[in-house]
This record gives sequence, C-alpha cells and structure tokens, in this order.
Amino acid sequence: MTPRVALIGAGGHGLSHRRVLSRLRDAGRIEVAGLCDRQPFAPDDAASLDGVPFFTDHTALLAAVRPDVVVICTPPHTHLPIALDALACGADLLLEKPPVMSLDEHRRLTAAVAESGRLCQVGFQALGSAALARLVDAAPAGPIGVFGAWWRPDTYYRRAPWAGRRSVGGRPVFDGALVNPFAHALMQALVVAGPGFRPRHLELEAYRTRDIETDDTTFLRVTAGDGRRITVGVTLASAVFLAGEIRVGGAALEYPTDRLRLPGEETSREVPGRTGLLENLLDHRADPAVPLLAPLARTATFTAVGAAIVGSAPPIEIGSKWLVAHPEGGGSVLPGIDELVRQVATTGELPSELGAGWASRAQLIPL
Ligand SMILES: NC(=O)c1ccc[n+]([C@@H]2O[C@H](COP(=O)([O-])OP(=O)(O)OC[C@H]3O[C@@H](n4cnc5c(N)ncnc54)[C@H](O)[C@@H]3O)[C@@H](O)[C@H]2O)c1
Repeated sequence: MTPRVALIGAGGHGLSHRRVLSRLRDAGRIEVAGLCDRQPFAPDDAASLDGVPFFTDHTALLAAVRPDVVVICTPPHTHLPIALDALACGADLLLEKPPVMSLDEHRRLTAAVAESGRLCQVGFQALGSAALARLVDAAPAGPIGVFGAWWRPDTYYRRAPWAGRRSVGGRPVFDGALVNPFAHALMQALVVAGPGFRPRHLELEAYRTRDIETDDTTFLRVTAGDGRRITVGVTLASAVFLAGEIRVGGAALEYPTDRLRLPGEETSREVPGRTGLLENLLDHRADPAVPLLAPLARTATFTAVGAAIVGSAPPIEIGSKWLVAHPEGGGSVLPGIDELVRQVATTGELPSELGAGWASRAQLIPL
C-alpha cells in the first residue's frame, strides 16, 4: 500500500519537506495525507499540495488522517510531545534535528519508539552523504578537528520566536552556532569518531558578537574516555566564508559541499550523492535490510553534547572594540576569526590557549 505521509510544521523549514513530499507524491511513492501548522504559510510553486487536508492542531491531524509516517518540523523545544503523540497514533517518524533537548528526553523518546514498535529517523540529512560514507570506510585515525566560518546578519536572529535563545518558556532550545547551523558538521564528526567515542568531558568557550542569548562563535574540545579528542571552532560572524570542514588523519570532508580528500590524496574532489532521509525511511519500512541512516540511537551523543552546551554558563560577549561592520552591512564581524577557527581545529588548542585577546578560559563540563 502507498504510505500516507503527513507534515507537522509546514511553514519555515517545512517548505523543504513540502518539496520532498510533492516530488515523492508525483513519483507515486507516497500519498500526502495532511499538513499542519499553527499559522498559515505561503504556498510554493515547486511544492503544490493543493487539496491536501490542513490542520492547525497536530492532534486533530493525527486523529483525522491516521498517517503511516509523520514528518515533524516544528521548533526544537516542541518536538518531544508531538513525536510521542505521533508514535501513539501508530506513525513512523522523520523528526527534524535536533531531535530532543536532553538525554532524559532522548531516553523517553527511545522508550516510546520501542514500546510502539515504530521507527524514528532524525533529520540529520548530512548522514545521507556518500562522501561521509567513503570517509568512514577509509577509517582514518587521529584527533578530529572541525571548523567553519559563516556569516549570518542580525536579522537571522529575528527569523523565529526561538531564534538566538537558549530557552523558551523555561524549556531549553538549541540555537547556538554549533548546536544549530553547524550541527550537521558536529554530527558528522561524531559519526567519523564512531560509536565507541564516549565523551567524558567538554571544554567549552562560547562567545557572542551581538545582542543574543546564545553563542554565535563557539569553540569546543570533547575528550572521550579513551583519550580521543574532537576539537571544534565555528562562527557565524565571519566576513570570510569557510565551508564546514572535518579533518582527521590526513583526510578532510567539507560540509555541506561533500568535497572529500582521503589520506594520501593531494586535492579534494566532490563525491556526489545524498540519500534523502524520507526516502531512506520509506525504503527501510519496505525492506528492513536497508539500514536507517539517522536512527534516533545514532544521535544520543549529539544530544548529550548539545544539551551540555545549551545548559552551560551564558556565552561571553566579545566587545565592540574587536568587531568591525560587515562590508555589506547587517551586523558586525570578527576580523581574523576564519584563520582562528582553522587554527583551533588543526592544533586542538582553544582560543584562550592560543592567546586570542577577547578569549576567556574554557568551562570544563563533565558528561
Ligand atoms: N535539517 C536542517 O538542515 C534544518 C534546517 C532548518 C531547520 N531545521 C529544524 O527544523 C525545525 C523547524 O525549524 P524552523 O526554522 O522552520 O522553525 P519555525 O519556528 O519557523 O517553525 C516551523 C513551523 O512550525 C510551526 N509550528 C510551531 N509550533 C507548532 C506546533 N505546535 N504545531 C504545528 N506547527 C507548529 C510554525 O508556525 C512554523 O511555521 C527545527 O527543529 C529546526 O532545528 C532543520
């Protein structure tokens, strides 16, 4: 039977899911059973879903259309209750990243998935990357470094009520540089480190260059029980763009461009091929021998690290004397931050250890 798929959270990033639903429906792979959003959203020519039943309350959608699969793309702090309701209704889930806000929530969701006998795929689409699979197969050894330097104007932090926040209504929410825009690079690094990478403690330097609650320039060193390390430097306040990059043992994988250099190779090349997470979920439902690419269990360490970052001391403000206006306006940038994030990832040292004038000693967070 053709699976009946519903989308909860059809506005915002839900647009990308509407496009996938529309494409898979046109290919005859699914029926679009219903859409839900608290608010009206703009229709899209590339994702015409005219005539699909629309609901403003997810419980009404679940009761009325009884979907086989539910895509959940609502703000992070709303994921758990909606996911529990959808599982209770008998649906498999594609739950946007970050799946939940704490390890306790992760355990509750894991238990509900097991009790219901349903599936939960998490929206870390970078886990569908052929380049990542190639890197994991090559099994390069050594410390892992992750860096990236992007620019987000101040308006980015006005895009949604939870933007730039560390909590909403007393509940944690994930919108820091590393737990949101660079979350895919962190998740890929954890996959490269492998399931045996069990973080023992974090050393965190979290900074903000603007008037937000959360961090936009983030440095992290994760040390595992076996002594292995992942060191990360990412920023959203750079005039110079560096794609996300994961380096390990002479290999480098670029996020989201899927450019890969394996150990011994001199240059990077694009390794095309991304398996869509909804397609993968549908394939797994049809044939359990097809592995799920981003099952909930695979994201537990991400949630542990993300929750520790969001629950840490508030980020330190980088004073205006260190900042300059972005050449195109819209906010400030931190000159030289592109060089620094690369240096952190390649040396394994944090900005305070490298002598950055605005840096403060890292917080040590046991896990
Ligand atoms: N995988 C990715 O690359 C990627 C990219 C962007 C966002 N996301 C994730 O997607 C999710 C949504 O992000 P967003 O930026 O679109 O957020 P958003 O705040 O714009 O919310 C998305 C939509 O959900 C609706 N909504 C809010 N609460 C709802 C509820 N209880 N029931 C039904 N609809 C509700 C909102 O009205 C909005 O239209 C987040 O978890 C975010 O982290 C993932």
